[in-house]
Amino acid sequence: MGFAHLLLIGFVLLALDSRGLVRGNAELGALMEIKASLDPENKILTSWTSNGDPCGGSFDGVACNERLKVANISLQGMGLAGKVSPAVAQLKCLSGLYLHYNSLTGEIPRELANLTELTDLYLNVNYLTGRVPSEIGSMASLQVLQLCCNRLNGTIPPEMGSLKKLSVLALQHNKLSGDIPVGLGNLQTLKRLDLSFNQFTGQIPVKVANIPELQALDVQNNSLSGLVPPALKKLEEGFQYQNNTGLCGFGFPLLRNCNGLDDANVNDLQPIGLNTNKTVPIPQTANVKAHCNRRHCSSPSKLPQAALVAGIVSVTVTLVGAGLLTSYRYRRGKQKIGSTADASDSRLSSDHSKDLYSRSASPLVCLEYSSGWDPLDDGRYGNGLSLQAPRYTLEEVESATQYFSEVNLLGRSTFSSVYRGILRDGTPVAIRSINVTSCKSEEAEFVNGLNLVTSLRHQNLIRLRGVCCSKGRGECFLVYDFAPKGTLSQYLDLEDGSIQVLDWPTRVSIIKGTAEGIGYLHSSEADRPAVVHQNISVEKILIDQQLNPLIMDSGLPKLLADDVIYSALKISAAMGYLAPEYITTGRFTEKSDVFAFGVIIFQILSGKRQLSSSMRLAAESCAFENFIDCNLKGNFTEPEAAILGKIALGCTSEFPDSRPTIIRVIEELNDWRVQHG
Ligand SMILES: *[C@@H]1O[C@H](CO)[C@@H](O)[C@H](O)[C@H]1NC(C)=O
Ligand SMILES: *[C@@H]1O[C@H](CO)[C@@H](O)[C@H](O)[C@H]1NC(C)=O
Ligand SMILES: *[C@@H]1O[C@H](CO)[C@@H](O)[C@H](O)[C@H]1NC(C)=O
Ligand SMILES: *[C@@H]1O[C@H](CO)[C@@H](O)[C@H](O)[C@H]1NC(C)=O
Ligand SMILES: *[C@@H]1O[C@H](CO)[C@@H](O)[C@H](O)[C@H]1NC(C)=O
Ligand SMILES: *[C@@H]1O[C@H](CO)[C@@H](O)[C@H](O)[C@H]1NC(C)=O
Ligand SMILES: *[C@@H]1O[C@H](CO)[C@@H](O)[C@H](O)[C@H]1NC(C)=O
Ligand SMILES: *[C@@H]1O[C@H](CO)[C@@H](O)[C@H](O)[C@H]1NC(C)=O
Ligand SMILES: *[C@@H]1O[C@H](CO)[C@@H](O)[C@H](O)[C@H]1NC(C)=O
Repeated sequence: MGFAHLLLIGFVLLALDSRGLVRGNAELGALMEIKASLDPENKILTSWTSNGDPCGGSFDGVACNERLKVANISLQGMGLAGKVSPAVAQLKCLSGLYLHYNSLTGEIPRELANLTELTDLYLNVNYLTGRVPSEIGSMASLQVLQLCCNRLNGTIPPEMGSLKKLSVLALQHNKLSGDIPVGLGNLQTLKRLDLSFNQFTGQIPVKVANIPELQALDVQNNSLSGLVPPALKKLEEGFQYQNNTGLCGFGFPLLRNCNGLDDANVNDLQPIGLNTNKTVPIPQTANVKAHCNRRHCSSPSKLPQAALVAGIVSVTVTLVGAGLLTSYRYRRGKQKIGSTADASDSRLSSDHSKDLYSRSASPLVCLEYSSGWDPLDDGRYGNGLSLQAPRYTLEEVESATQYFSEVNLLGRSTFSSVYRGILRDGTPVAIRSINVTSCKSEEAEFVNGLNLVTSLRHQNLIRLRGVCCSKGRGECFLVYDFAPKGTLSQYLDLEDGSIQVLDWPTRVSIIKGTAEGIGYLHSSEADRPAVVHQNISVEKILIDQQLNPLIMDSGLPKLLADDVIYSALKISAAMGYLAPEYITTGRFTEKSDVFAFGVIIFQILSGKRQLSSSMRLAAESCAFENFIDCNLKGNFTEPEAAILGKIALGCTSEFPDSRPTIIRVIEELNDWRVQHG
């Protein structure tokens, strides 16, 4: 290679480098300002560094265009607790700003209006206050404006009427007041307008009702009055208007008729000059009803058959493998209890989160929110199935978990994640999401499973509050009460002197409560068959404020595809909960739950996850010092320990027939209470 070549290459590199640097630097300053404002304590945006390259891929949530200008900032659900910085306006090429599902405070900076390339602005579900800036009217490219679920007050600026490209305007759940500006009727491409849960007054402008593309108008829970424009009838369920005491209209099922009026002079009720041209064509409804959306997404059970078969084959293989493994362990008389159960597979990759937001950015998904629950439509799928469970909408689930923020992730396995969440009314919940691809593929089976799961009610089972399935996200969500004191496993393997050490009476009552929970599952009731839990472990026993045990995931196998259950077996086997006969029979029975319960008694008594064969021997010979937790410092009742040790031995007998039923166990526990307590 000649000198000239080298020189040339060097020059090119230099040019590239300086181009990157110059462009990077110009916007880097703005990004650092934005960061300082969004994340004042620098806990979250640590990847945004003042000597880094915003377009090099290392800045979380920043995407650049081909000219190395920042094009998108997506920081939804990151737990940001600062403010939106006016410096955002310096990112001239920004097309998407996604800051939803955070805890941002302060006002919407008016400087944002200088972002004339911005198409998507998502500031929903934060704590923003103040007014919607009137300057926003100059954002010529804006298509989606999502400001829902903040604390915005004041009126809708009439300038919004000049956002010619707007297709979604979502202002619900704020404290906005005043009239709905007639100018909004100029938004000819508007598809969805959500004004619900505010304090709007006055009439619904006819001009708005006549927007040709309008698919959804939600004005629930405001203080609107006057005649509802008849054009809105075309929206069918897309028009939501409840809880506006002043509204009246003709042909709307929930509205009173307007006294002394009829259809003919409807438009005369609106102020002069606002009349619509009655001949403006309104498309037929077939392609705009919320329903076509539903039809579009209402078959939750399209697992490709090939995949299913492949799944079954691989499961069989795995199962045999797992079986051999367990059998080997068992013969050696060892119970190996794994330590990390719900270990996270991986953090959400940035690609994945992008995928999520781009999906939620679509107006179609927004429509899906307004109809709430989508795949399992109201008992409408022919075979007379219907879901009795209370339902949550996807929006409620997203809002509770702050858009599935990593901050709220409690655990993740291959088919499911659990998030902490807070419902709008302040109730803390735990939300288990299950990937639809892991659910039973037969719709009827799945719905029956859901009905069973939601019918289970007992003081020692965690309460399922409701469910939500979203075809859009490909997930079903089970919303449970939140157990503030974590899982039983957190009370095992404690350091000497830990404050978490459970005292003896508490351990006894946890054992008893757990037995009662299992006893409830195992007894068939009038309206349901006996339920085998299949996966009881110290990870599945939650502890409530009063230190009562609450079993979770009862009936979960009724929702999951068989291959998913089989592939998760390795974990239970490794943890030592799998009854030995499972290897030969391949069936879960009440007696396999009893086996797992026996293992749990040993774990509670010893305070250890990992059981040893010497523990069994110690229990047989009542050598308490070798199997009772030394953290108790000898503060336990020997006769009780002897009886519990005996029950644990019986439950973990190698032969299912030698194990007691759970009902018998409960009786024994109660008998001894009568004698000794
Ligand atoms: C920015 O986001 C939009 C909308 O999701 C997407 O179409 C576009 O490709 C993104 N731009 C970049 C540079 O990632
Ligand atoms: C928009 O930017 C110009 C300068 O670029 C500035 O003078 C003006 O105040 C900005 N407008 C708003 C509303 O921030
Ligand atoms: C809007 O809220 C702010 C506080 O966030 C308050 O100071 C202001 O008076 C309110 N404005 C209206 C019109 O209610
Ligand atoms: C309707 O709005 C009023 C006033 O904002 C509020 O007090 C009430 O709780 C709302 N109703 C519902 C069901 O949210
Ligand atoms: C209407 O308001 C009542 C009382 O606040 C509430 O119970 C009901 O759920 C509201 N309905 C709607 C559709 O918001
Ligand atoms: C009303 O509709 C007619 C026929 O389409 C059209 O010629 C006229 O310009 C419209 N008037 C207004 C004010 O839009
Ligand atoms: C569900 O599982 C499928 C297949 O494993 C995967 O492609 C998809 O991303 C998962 N969906 C979610 C929401 O995790
Ligand atoms: C059984 O429990 C273990 C430990 O909590 C978990 O990893 C596994 O996924 C569960 N299996 C099923 C089928 O839920
Ligand atoms: C033993 O445990 C009981 C029950 O928690 C407690 O009341 C008692 O004070 C403890 N005794 C000693 C000596 O620690």
